[in-house]
Amino acid sequence: MNVKIDGRRKINSNVAVPSDKSISHRSIMIGSLAKGVTEIENFLFSDDCLATINCFKNLGTDIEIRNDKIIVKGNGFALSAPKQILDCQNSGTTTRLLLGILSTQEFESILTGDSSLKKRPMKRVTLPLSQMGAEFEFLEKEDFLPIKVKGSKKLKPIEYTLPIPSAQVKSALIFASLRAEGKSVIKESPKSRDHTELMLKHAGANIKSWEEDGVYTVEILPSQVSSIKIKIPSDISSAAFFIVLALICEGSSVVIENCILNPTRTGIIDVLKQMGADIRIEDVENRNGELVGKIIARSSNLKGIKVDKNDIPRIIDEIPILAVAAAFAEGKTTIDNASELRVKESDRIKTTVQMLKSFGADCYELEDGLEIIGSREKLKSAVVNSYKDHRIAMAASIMACAVEGESTILDAECASISFPNFYDILFSSTKKI
Ligand code: S3P
Repeated sequence: MNVKIDGRRKINSNVAVPSDKSISHRSIMIGSLAKGVTEIENFLFSDDCLATINCFKNLGTDIEIRNDKIIVKGNGFALSAPKQILDCQNSGTTTRLLLGILSTQEFESILTGDSSLKKRPMKRVTLPLSQMGAEFEFLEKEDFLPIKVKGSKKLKPIEYTLPIPSAQVKSALIFASLRAEGKSVIKESPKSRDHTELMLKHAGANIKSWEEDGVYTVEILPSQVSSIKIKIPSDISSAAFFIVLALICEGSSVVIENCILNPTRTGIIDVLKQMGADIRIEDVENRNGELVGKIIARSSNLKGIKVDKNDIPRIIDEIPILAVAAAFAEGKTTIDNASELRVKESDRIKTTVQMLKSFGADCYELEDGLEIIGSREKLKSAVVNSYKDHRIAMAASIMACAVEGESTILDAECASISFPNFYDILFSSTKKI
């Protein structure tokens, strides 16, 4: 599906941003590992999260959608051998977290995914999980899906420092550690998103975590997991598109309520504020360990900055839309120390630069990031490749709203990976200036 966007639009409204993707995946996983009935409200019915539901149904978990709620009947860690190959589709989070969970199961299973996921590295999880005693076989190509997994009920505990901060790797190791024969200790610097730790603590698991001298440590003791009730807040990674839309379009403002404000996720707010963005946060509350609140953003004159390398894990999914904001800023923005972008749903250093260049922006690739020279007056409408990457499609759509003329976003349906009704919301909440 290609989407045409008639540019020079503005927004002045509340936007109901969909629920958090990271928390939605984890709610199904933790619900499946818990003993008893977990109730999930505001689950994100996006392609990635549906892939997680399908995998867990295949592993014998009873998952029912009942009046907008999801009811997960967990059997402790007693999953059953799947009758089919587990298809993680486009979802790295499903794959990597599942590899950790399957490491605790004695049966054999095979995981696969779509052509993009089959290009994403998996040794970062299989190596430490092998040290714990799980067995993996790469069925086509070393480091990549499809992978055969055989877990163990006698996993060894692990002491492991992540070479690159990653919530997916950390979470896989935490899940496996819940079933290990002793205390595991996982360290990373800087800290990546900690939803797994927070949700497992809420579910009664024996987990401690702290930060000292810039190093984040998680200590896990073998634990049972109790069923929980969870209401999932809106996803700040999805909200970021509408925040930037309001910042770069004249006479605009947007309000997003009930948004996740976990400090490991709010890097985009901090970085945009450093660029001069008019963003306010209100009504913050703590919901079972997770901060949730309201975000208000208004049109702003942005200026380019050098992004602090310690902020990179906190903005890792928002870099394409941050780069769009930078194209409208005055001066140069540098984002480096971000080579992880090369192994996301697409090579996001390349695809972000290509997308911006299609609109006439002045930017170039660095080995580990990108540099953008603000050039509002040069930007024009374009036909843009999304590279079938949801965040590139949505970032390009926001850029198209701000420039003069009609743009076309190719293969725009991929937005449904994380934001199923993105185009309905975009067209209903914006109008031509
Ligand atoms: C995610 C972690 C991030 C992020 C991904 C979701 C998660 O990956 O890019 O979209 O839910 O754990 P890494 O932390 O592995 O970089």
